[in-house]
Amino acid sequence: MEIAYQFNVEEVTGRELEELYAEAGLRRRADQKIYRAFKNSSFVCIACDHGRLVGASRAITDGEYHGFIYDVAVRPGYQGRGIGRRLVEELLTRLPVWRVMLVARDEVQSFYCNLGFERYSNVMARLDRNQPPVGPS
Ligand SMILES: CC(C)(COP(=O)(O)OP(=O)(O)OC[C@H]1O[C@@H](n2cnc3c(N)ncnc32)[C@H](O)[C@@H]1OP(=O)(O)O)[C@@H](O)C(=O)NCCC(=O)NCCS
Repeated sequence: MEIAYQFNVEEVTGRELEELYAEAGLRRRADQKIYRAFKNSSFVCIACDHGRLVGASRAITDGEYHGFIYDVAVRPGYQGRGIGRRLVEELLTRLPVWRVMLVARDEVQSFYCNLGFERYSNVMARLDRNQPPVGPS
């Protein structure tokens, strides 16, 4: 199996991204909204198996101090083969900043620990509960 990595979203569709995240158990990422999120990101990494989207990740950064990584996912049938690691490492090499942050569910925290991440205190978030993540496509 030869996985090809791309660093833009020109060759995938919002529908394919939505399907990837639904399969990986990360819902609430809808079609054109998730596509625009990728388009508006500083860096993206897309993994394809013969043209089929099998994994994706994205990051935003100010290019000087801070970076955030979001939406790392690999299709279940492709997990455990190093694709997730590569999707994060490709972003990290493009983020020459001192602090890269992300939100990780308990079940995947050791995946990120393997990549050098650690628990980090004093983080706060403001959530607008009137604006659900799923929006019009
Ligand atoms: C988390 C995820 C992206 C990992 O992708 P993957 O391709 O299976 O991971 P890799 O094969 O690159 O694994 C890299 C390393 O992390 C470990 N690892 C993978 N998934 C793990 C998990 N859920 N928990 C702990 N360790 C994990 C692997 O054993 C491997 O260790 P090694 O380098 O010592 O061999 C993938 O399981 C996934 O898409 N999960 C569902 C979506 C999700 O939860 N995404 C994270 C959002 S916060």
